[in-house]
Amino acid sequence: MTETTGTSKLIALFGPPGSGKGTQAEYLVRDYDLYHLSTGDLLRAEIKQGTPLGRQADEVIKSGALMPDAIIQGMIRNQVNSVLGEKAGILFDGFPRTAAQADFLDGLLAELGLAMKAVVFLAIDAEKLIDRLTGRRTCRNCGAVYHVKSSPSRREEVCDKCGGPLYQRPDDNRDSIAERLAAYERQTYPVLQAYENKGLLVRVDGDQSREAVYRDIAGALDRILAIPGRD
Ligand code: AP5
Ligand code: MG
Repeated sequence: MTETTGTSKLIALFGPPGSGKGTQAEYLVRDYDLYHLSTGDLLRAEIKQGTPLGRQADEVIKSGALMPDAIIQGMIRNQVNSVLGEKAGILFDGFPRTAAQADFLDGLLAELGLAMKAVVFLAIDAEKLIDRLTGRRTCRNCGAVYHVKSSPSRREEVCDKCGGPLYQRPDDNRDSIAERLAAYERQTYPVLQAYENKGLLVRVDGDQSREAVYRDIAGALDRILAIPGRD
């Protein structure tokens, strides 16, 4: 099938909770004309709207477990179909995170005549993530991400970008974090192997400054996207 949509830069950001996916996504969508497709953000939007799906997601997310594959896959299908053609590519953030989701994505992209270009893995040890997550503050309005110590907003609890209120995600407490890390180890980390086998994996040291992580990602993507047929 030929690509007719113009949306060809398909990239996934992969990594444990707090590895910096959302932070790096902000830079990547700005510089590579990508649509940011975060399943976590989509679920939090449902929670905010108080939909039945949002009520289910609220419980599951607080527990630190993963949502059922079928629900996530339905969301992805709708979202991908509705944004095709809008931007030069799509940046998947926090998806796929099970083997079933990865298979589903392969099938969906094949149906659309598209292919994943790179899966960027932000590698970092679990013990480094607790501080990042417990200190994170997120804008309720625009979703911008801060950290009380390493990247505070200028005015306490107020977003620098839009003036919205900052809040602490209800899953950023020690109990939920332990469950999220366990779910990652059990269900998500094994998915990496398949991408490595396909030659799509880009491993980046996630335990560096935000700028250094971005420099490494951008360096790798620039090389990959310059390969004929992969731009
Ligand atoms: P989701 O929202 O995807 O959360 P996550 O994967 O747990 O990842 P986070 O958003 O917590 O971390 P991040 O990697 O984006 O880090 P960030 O840049 O914010 O999912 C939430 C829940 O939704 C899941 O638990 C599950 O229930 C459900 N869900 C979502 N997708 C699903 C799916 N596909 N299937 C099933 N269920 C799904 O950074 C974190 C902090 O660190 C910030 O304070 C930041 O400022 C700081 N920081 C970032 N980079 C650096 C750096 N280089 N140095 C120092 N600090 C840094
Ligand atoms: Mg995130």
